[in-house]
Amino acid sequence: MRKLGLGKKGMEHQIEEAAHRLVEVFANSKGQPFDPSVPITKSISSVICALTFGNQLSTDDENFKRLLEILEMSLQFGGSFFHALYEMFPWLMQYLPGTHKKIFSAYDEAISIVQKEIEKHREQHSLTEPQDYIDFYLLQLEKTQNDPYTTYDEDNLAECILDFFGAGTETTASTLKWAMLLIAIHPEVQDKVYKEMEDVFGSSRSISYQDRKKLPYTNAVIHEIQRAKYILLFGPPRQSVKDVNILGYPIPKGTFVIPDLRSVLYDPKQWENPREFNPNNFLDKDGNFVAREEFLAFGAGARACIGEQMARIELFLFFTSLLRAFSFHIPEAKKLNKEPVTALTMHPRPYTLCAVPRSSSS
Ligand code: HEM
Repeated sequence: MRKLGLGKKGMEHQIEEAAHRLVEVFANSKGQPFDPSVPITKSISSVICALTFGNQLSTDDENFKRLLEILEMSLQFGGSFFHALYEMFPWLMQYLPGTHKKIFSAYDEAISIVQKEIEKHREQHSLTEPQDYIDFYLLQLEKTQNDPYTTYDEDNLAECILDFFGAGTETTASTLKWAMLLIAIHPEVQDKVYKEMEDVFGSSRSISYQDRKKLPYTNAVIHEIQRAKYILLFGPPRQSVKDVNILGYPIPKGTFVIPDLRSVLYDPKQWENPREFNPNNFLDKDGNFVAREEFLAFGAGARACIGEQMARIELFLFFTSLLRAFSFHIPEAKKLNKEPVTALTMHPRPYTLCAVPRSSSS
């Protein structure tokens, strides 16, 4: 992942292009109400697609569309009644019909789509000039083939790719959907972000991730969106590999540990009115951006989110590109139910949005 230049110029360029395409899709709505959900998800997953498959798989490809469908099915299955039944009685459920059976066969189908892409990479011998995650992984596989302890193998590669789609699409896409919603119902924040970008860069020069340091208010708004509408109900379960003692609490080897990141992100001792959306949480009295230790949206430690850098670049570039191009409002905002849908992620309920082109950049 590091070799791919996550967070460096290569990845940033792909994200910029995806953000540009999303601006075009929004522009096609011509200021009329539309549901931004599908275009946002498609756009974010196209970045994962480029990261893993390179140029091999276009987002118009039937296989790519099928991968997205399977991802959506799996997310709906997670937290459902059949999921709970399966988790409790796996030995029984394997003999009974239900959605879990469909999910297993869909998962096998997703693995076989990914395996075909891996095979294509092998055939094209792109390992001399590795471009994407598959190339780099295959290269590593070749280097370690005589190592009896290697953990690299093709099955693992296919699983890792599905992990990226699973962990990297819904999380970032839902955050961006919250971003559009929050910004549309807080026009004063939206205007301030736009004004800051105009004052610093005018409307001609494109904005890069590095520029976030020059845009403290915009940066604070993005952090506050992630905090106030945090999308994970809880962090992924971990297991203690040895006996440890943390702050006087003994945690024996083998204990399951489920991090409750919300307990930090909504801690009233750390944040004033933690349930309210307030970009000042990340600003000092002079308007400078303040990085807060309590902002643990990506977890902590050795197993913190591997896509953190990528997600941060995505959120920054998508957000600034969209806010530069349009002003947003929600028709009948008063009737809008702003409570999240509680599933594996806490995403917004479907809503329609108007993206009205800004005259200077349209
Ligand atoms: C707003 C976006 C995102 C949020 C809030 C988020 C959050 C998290 C959190 C809290 C964890 C668990 C960390 C821990 O246990 O301490 C995690 C793990 C992970 N994330 Fe993300 N993530 C995001 C985007 C992404 C992206 C874009 C990718 C992939 C390209 C990704 C891939 C992963 C993977 C593979 C893991 C498991 C890492 C491991 O077990 O070592 N995530 N993420």
